[in-house]
Amino acid sequence: MRLFVGIEFPEKIVAALAAVQAELRGHSQRGRFKRRENFHLTLKFLGEVPAADVPLLTPPLAAVAAAAAPFVIGLGRVGQFGSGSPVRTVWADVAGDLERLQSLQGKVEQALVPAGFPAERRPWRPHVTLAQDLVLAPGAPPWGVYKADVTRFTVQEYALILSEEIDRRRVYTPIARFPLRG
Ligand code: 2AM
Repeated sequence: MRLFVGIEFPEKIVAALAAVQAELRGHSQRGRFKRRENFHLTLKFLGEVPAADVPLLTPPLAAVAAAAAPFVIGLGRVGQFGSGSPVRTVWADVAGDLERLQSLQGKVEQALVPAGFPAERRPWRPHVTLAQDLVLAPGAPPWGVYKADVTRFTVQEYALILSEEIDRRRVYTPIARFPLRG
């Protein structure tokens, strides 16, 4: 099973992401645009995990969530990974209580090490992917102009999410949710 740990968004955040994505789409020649039901913030990508190993993941994820208090985040500027054309990944940045977010991500990551998931070597860079392999149209407004609405929301849980390809579409299904109870 292909799994990751992520934060799902309330409808107002999904709507803000969809709005800035639509603006980008209107100014692009081509690209692969993430479907709105797939918007999320990844805390830890786990990759392929045998189904039999899932019970190893849930206790540490529950323990971290039990000790963490809810906190507020929102969307920031739109940016990109990759400097060529097409642009590899276009994302919305995360704003708000980034210290608490970083701390939670670090705890999730460390808690999963004993279950056999090594910590990433690269620093975690919170981002919400909007599009991949994007080519802006000639005359399109430059990067820096596209901005997501600054709406904020309280992160109250994270989820273990299954990523599957069904009928050639990526489908994400939460298989366990972990409320922040600290
Ligand atoms: P992305 O948004 O930058 O593509 C599910 O694939 C989630 O895990 C995505 O949000 C994806 O990030 C993230 N992820 C992190 N590392 C990954 C990897 N090596 N392969 C696929 N997805 C990865």
